Amino acid sequence: MKFTFYGHACFAVQIQETNIIFDPFISPNELAADIDVDAIKADYILISHGHGDHVADALRIAQNNEATIVSNFEIVSWYQNTHKYPKAHPMNHGGSWNFDFGKVKYTNAVHTSGLPDGSYGGYPGGFIVNSAEKNFYYAGDTALTYDMKLIPMWSKLDFAVLPIGDNFTMGYEDAAIAAEFIECDKIIGVHFDTFGFIKIDHSKAKAAFEAKGKELILPKIGETIDI
Ligand code: NI
Ligand code: MN
Repeated sequence: MKFTFYGHACFAVQIQETNIIFDPFISPNELAADIDVDAIKADYILISHGHGDHVADALRIAQNNEATIVSNFEIVSWYQNTHKYPKAHPMNHGGSWNFDFGKVKYTNAVHTSGLPDGSYGGYPGGFIVNSAEKNFYYAGDTALTYDMKLIPMWSKLDFAVLPIGDNFTMGYEDAAIAAEFIECDKIIGVHFDTFGFIKIDHSKAKAAFEAKGKELILPKIGETIDI
């Protein structure tokens, strides 16, 4: 499976011929200035919660590609009603849906979820994707939570995408514990370095995972890796 990092908590995966992007926040991110948002191909846009650093470019990418937005009911309704973008699939916590690329489950996250215009964004979440190629978990913005111990009951994960930047989400030490809870050895770190509150020491972050026998991958912005 191809994995491309677009900075902050935005990444894309390609599952067979389907392109899926998560939490698009590119054009406001100075670190991602080299990314051409309008060149991004997307069939689906999965949005974990309503904060601006997760939705900034979602509508633009959706309109460019006629992509399907997948998120919780309140966020999907906001795109449909406020932005008149109808192509969207609503979910809510604990629910799963079989898309053409695989089965998606919307999971709990401990965080908040107001939308950029002050609209109510429902509760924040994350996603488990079980596909014919790989199974993975994107936690969204979240604290470490005991709910993560449920995830191995639903999916044998090949990799997981976890926030590690601290202050707004769990930091790398808690994320390393999360890797144990979800029983996953290969972690891609996101939600770090974008702004002052979440700058981290990369070598210390990697060491925290190594101490638990886990691998922390920190891809460069714009980099595509085979995972
Ligand atoms: Ni957030
Ligand atoms: Mn965030």
